[in-house]
Amino acid sequence: MTQSTLFDTYKIFTYELGKKDSEPVEVSFRDIVSEIRDTTYLTHSIYYYPAKFIPQVVRFCINEFTKENDWIIDSFAGSGTVGLEAFLTKRNAILLDLNYLLKHIMPIKIYQGTQEYSKYELAKNIQEIQKEQESFIPEYSNVRYWYSDEVFEVLSRYWAGLHKLDGNIYKWIIQAALVKISKLFSLAEHRTPKLFKSKFKKIFIAELMQTDWKKQLDNKLFQNSYKFYDSVKHFQNITKNYNNEVKYYAGVDSAKFKLESKKELDVLITSPPYLQAQEYIRTSKLDLFWLGYTEKQVKEISRLEIPYRKAERVIETYTLNEIRKQIENDKLIKILNSYFDHTIASLENSMNLLKKGGKACIFVGNPKIDGIEIETWRIFTEYFTEKGFKFEIVFDDEIKTRQLFGARNNKNPNGMKSEYLLILTKNT
Ligand SMILES: C[S@@+](CC[C@H](N)C(=O)[O-])C[C@H]1O[C@@H](n2cnc3c(N)ncnc32)[C@H](O)[C@@H]1O
Repeated sequence: MTQSTLFDTYKIFTYELGKKDSEPVEVSFRDIVSEIRDTTYLTHSIYYYPAKFIPQVVRFCINEFTKENDWIIDSFAGSGTVGLEAFLTKRNAILLDLNYLLKHIMPIKIYQGTQEYSKYELAKNIQEIQKEQESFIPEYSNVRYWYSDEVFEVLSRYWAGLHKLDGNIYKWIIQAALVKISKLFSLAEHRTPKLFKSKFKKIFIAELMQTDWKKQLDNKLFQNSYKFYDSVKHFQNITKNYNNEVKYYAGVDSAKFKLESKKELDVLITSPPYLQAQEYIRTSKLDLFWLGYTEKQVKEISRLEIPYRKAERVIETYTLNEIRKQIENDKLIKILNSYFDHTIASLENSMNLLKKGGKACIFVGNPKIDGIEIETWRIFTEYFTEKGFKFEIVFDDEIKTRQLFGARNNKNPNGMKSEYLLILTKNT
């Protein structure tokens, strides 16, 4: 595919249809990016994360707007989908996220170590953990609430064993498996991202405790570790001799984060949090405590999470002002103000680093509050076109399955039918 073919075609197509410049153009990224057939390919499936990008959207932006060795930034990197796609296509990436999880996800998602490793040694490491006698008790006052006593005893020994391992590939693999199992064997509902005890889960665990649950837990630990091992091996076979950089900064507020490098970046590819969805840190709480973070550390990042922190300024654009006039509830106005203040601050902080002609690719939904649809992409467009960016196009990608915070594989999360990929170009 030559540079910009699809993008140009879509622009011409929009023109021929006589659509207004600013009307969304319908696409299905799953269909047009046919080189990716499976959203969970290679290491994409390691670590569960809510509202992950489908890799096809990221690959589309990479194919259309970058070339080898370019630098991509993602201000809301989550589980690092952009980092993995960048590495696979020989681009460099800078990833920022408030969630500390990113720091634990990236070393396994784009494993670049030169150390030889084998399933045999992996099994030996798992057996070491199983023999551990000491316990690791997370610094989280409520942790026992989420477990039966027997399960807690086993998990805290396994985690103690894990924390003693050297920071090598075995540790990264077993850690990913333990994170998964610690949720599965907890009383927290594991079929949805949200952290809560469900009736289903209580019954599930009560029944499990009547069986040989310890054997099942151990089997799952092995099975998941082997599965992740295979994904990492496959990834490494494909990326032999690839040496691009993926830098990641976890636990940072992307609105305030200062990059050390003075280098101009080529593209922003990002998917901001959803309005009224402050669930990312809460969703990861159990994982973070087992990984060794304290209640205080988790609280500190929760406070910075969009959109429940106070707005420092009121963003004014035509559409946003019109929406404000229609909303009567003060609390909702506060959320709206907070969302646009902090999300725009984060985007702007990264977009300021783009070179002239660099593209900003922003993937957002149009959620409803108080029954009013919030055209997020339009508000971003109005704000950034005042700041020296040119509106190029907005794509409307119908949601098939994207696990947000509701029910499993919710076909219509937050009442949204589509998500939008907005493309802006830096003019100055
Ligand atoms: C839609 S998710 C991104 C998912 C990501 N595209 C992926 O594929 O995994 C939005 C992310 O924004 C992060 N976030 C929320 N507030 C933030 C802030 N102030 N600074 C940086 N990241 C923040 C959340 O932790 C969450 O990971």
